[in-house]
Amino acid sequence: MKLNIALLPGDGIGPEIVEQAQKVVNAISEKYGHEPQYTSALVGACAIDATGNPYPEATHEICMQSDAVLFGAIGDPRFDNDPKAKVRPEQGLLAMRQKLGLYANLRPVSTFKSLAHKSPLKTELVDGADFMCIRELTGGIYFGRPQGRSEDGNTAYDSCVYTRSEIERIVRLGFEYAQKRRKKLTVIDKANVLATSRLWRETAQALAPEYADVEVEYMFVDNAAMQLIQWPKRFDVMVTENMFGDILTDEASVITGSLGLLPSASIGVHTSVFEPIHGSYPQAAGKNIANPLATVLSAAMMFEYAYGKMEEGALIREAVEQSIEQSIVTEDLAEGGKAYTTSEVGDWLVNYINKK
Ligand code: IPM
Ligand code: MN
Repeated sequence: MKLNIALLPGDGIGPEIVEQAQKVVNAISEKYGHEPQYTSALVGACAIDATGNPYPEATHEICMQSDAVLFGAIGDPRFDNDPKAKVRPEQGLLAMRQKLGLYANLRPVSTFKSLAHKSPLKTELVDGADFMCIRELTGGIYFGRPQGRSEDGNTAYDSCVYTRSEIERIVRLGFEYAQKRRKKLTVIDKANVLATSRLWRETAQALAPEYADVEVEYMFVDNAAMQLIQWPKRFDVMVTENMFGDILTDEASVITGSLGLLPSASIGVHTSVFEPIHGSYPQAAGKNIANPLATVLSAAMMFEYAYGKMEEGALIREAVEQSIEQSIVTEDLAEGGKAYTTSEVGDWLVNYINKK
């Protein structure tokens, strides 16, 4: 099969980690007879430097013409502490999500047996946790208008906006995933305070009878933040709005043991995007020390979601599990043992796949 993949490495550690994922995609392709073809494009701070636009039209064209986008990370400290910056790398990511119509962000959270003790949470609490967080990605307070400042500069406002149809499509996805998994859906909102959340709950309640085999529960986001840490194994599929999902999934990374392990798939109207949930880790850029596994696992999701190639995805996951099991890990997971470099971990994975 021809694989027409857009590579958007972005900023910071993005290029190093995407390079490892690309090596893994090549090794898998060799094994299963696929022909990957890559087109690289700029996004984030590097795109601002080159073109003034964090998501240039040329990059969008490349994404639209590909079957899948493998994305690294964006962000640069040059912009973070400048509240007056006119254009920011993050806007590139948001523009990409909006223009590709990526309304669903799938963030699976699971644990690796040999890492359960790495979590600051008690091993017996996290060991075996396995849930899917479905985050709405193109609506809510991230995109709602009006947004801005009053003329005197002393008042700022953001708007959280959701339409019934936006909620319906993402909640349906939640029910469908629950049907494929352990048949439990948690709808997370703040319906005791927010009008948008009340529409979420109302919409989910109206859909529930169509999915009678799924047990659905409704939970306020503050309570969910607590339960996620207190009892992660109680969750199967959770669905929530954009910002709640952003916050809850960073929190959920603590369960796995490192932010460097969580992949994601963003799917929607046009080409799907596969990216680690972590950021650009600028302090580590160019040092060959960043953990590439979240990006490699995102490539596994790419095989499954963009190409329906489950065996390929499973073999990548197996290679990752084995690397962790055998302590071929970067410094974030090394615990005083030998820390391998980003590219050494990539090489090990390639070698494992080749030998399989
Ligand atoms: C994420 C990131 C982005 C978000 C930022 C970089 C805009 O934190 O993908 O989770 O908030 O969505
Ligand atoms: Mn985030």
